[in-house]
Amino acid sequence: IHLGETRPEVVKLGSGERPKEVDYSSGDRGTRVRVMGRVHRERKQKEVLFVTLRDGHGYMQCVLTGPLAKTYDALTLTRESSMMITGEMWEVPPGAHAPDNRELHADYFEIVGKAPGGDDAITNVVQAKGDVQTLLDRRHLVLRGETAASVMFVRDAVEHAFNVKYHELGYVKVSPPALVQTQVEGGSTLFDFNYYGEKAYLTQSSQLYLETAIPFAGNVYCIEKSFRAEKSLTRRHLSEYTHIEAELDFITFDDLLEHLEDIICGVLDHVLANPRTAAMLQDLNPDFQKPERPFKRMKYADAIDWLRSHDIPNEDGNPHQFGDDIAEAAERRMTDIINRPIFLTHFPVEIKAFYMQKDKADPRVTESVDCLMPGVGEIVGGSMRMDDYDELMAAYQREGMDPSPYYWYTDQRRYGTSPHGGYGLGLERFLAWLCKQHTVRDTCLYPRYMGRCKP
Ligand code: 4AD
Repeated sequence: IHLGETRPEVVKLGSGERPKEVDYSSGDRGTRVRVMGRVHRERKQKEVLFVTLRDGHGYMQCVLTGPLAKTYDALTLTRESSMMITGEMWEVPPGAHAPDNRELHADYFEIVGKAPGGDDAITNVVQAKGDVQTLLDRRHLVLRGETAASVMFVRDAVEHAFNVKYHELGYVKVSPPALVQTQVEGGSTLFDFNYYGEKAYLTQSSQLYLETAIPFAGNVYCIEKSFRAEKSLTRRHLSEYTHIEAELDFITFDDLLEHLEDIICGVLDHVLANPRTAAMLQDLNPDFQKPERPFKRMKYADAIDWLRSHDIPNEDGNPHQFGDDIAEAAERRMTDIINRPIFLTHFPVEIKAFYMQKDKADPRVTESVDCLMPGVGEIVGGSMRMDDYDELMAAYQREGMDPSPYYWYTDQRRYGTSPHGGYGLGLERFLAWLCKQHTVRDTCLYPRYMGRCKP
């Protein structure tokens, strides 16, 4: 078997881009192409070997017939082996099905890297009634599966859409540091480390640094990693997660809520406009419906009443009281029953971070918002920021924080303060909601949480 005279073209599988001058009609033979990828599936039918190749762009059915199907390499072909195949593109015969309605009739192939068979075959390694921990140990192989890979493709589309949407709105992207010496969301979840002999932390949020960027850039955003030493194992907490954060200058609390609806719905529009990701979402979450605007708005105090009237207790098993933290389980039950996005607003000062602006009409509460989604619960946390110097100094004191490491943050209130606010959205949680995944561990490439730092 020889390569033909014409140098075969390299085709990206599933790219939709058909090789030039191909006549797909089965009577007329198609153009010669060369494809490279890994064996996603293989199936022998009488004398014919059907191989579905995968290369990240898509899938292509390749048909090996005659002597080619009887070669040693064909007879011992294993899933995940990498290979090169040349042949002619044909339209699939009527009644048959193949990706993109085409198949490659092979006249030559080479194995590039043969994957093991038998006990070590990928099907045994990742699909064997593996418990969750074994599958996480083998995440590097699990990612080759259609579901795990689809979530990663949707993730790419969502991250891209955020960048596009922010730029459409005129926001500037900045890149705050990950190594810091200040806390944002309380000391209990800080990862500390020795920074050349000084104590430093992995950032919990880029918010404080974003606030320093608005005076020179106006509205700003970042997509960075945040780190939390979460000492509990839940399906929505990671130790390292991708945090999409924005800070808006000269706004009111209502402006912040409207912007949040706009960005979430705008991102969904972008993602759904991409046929490939839309098809993947249809497979992952067939019932998904874009939320309707405006999102339901609910004050914290009303949520407490709602939880009491629905007999959903607090963590101690007692009826909820004003001032209680609404724990994950109660929050999720409420969100699942209401079954639409909720802006939960106006949390009490005591249960929220030091920097939050108090509500002028009711100083017991803050101008704060959590966006809750069915199935996941909180995916966004945001607020207006305290813009008064004296109030901020009092807040440090109330929280027992030494203000000196925050001098650069405090200075924003001295050099031209402004009413401003912002939010952080957890990308993994957004994806768990969008792709209907049970846990955020399945919406990142390699999850990090208490007890797991590999692969
Ligand atoms: O509510 P959080 O803690 O808010 C902040 O960090 C603010 N400083 C953000 C800001 O205003 N710029 O976190 C914001 C979001 C949460 O709603 C959640 O989606 C996500 O970050 N998040 C986590 N995601 C995964 N694992 C964790 N351990 C998370 N902690 C927070």
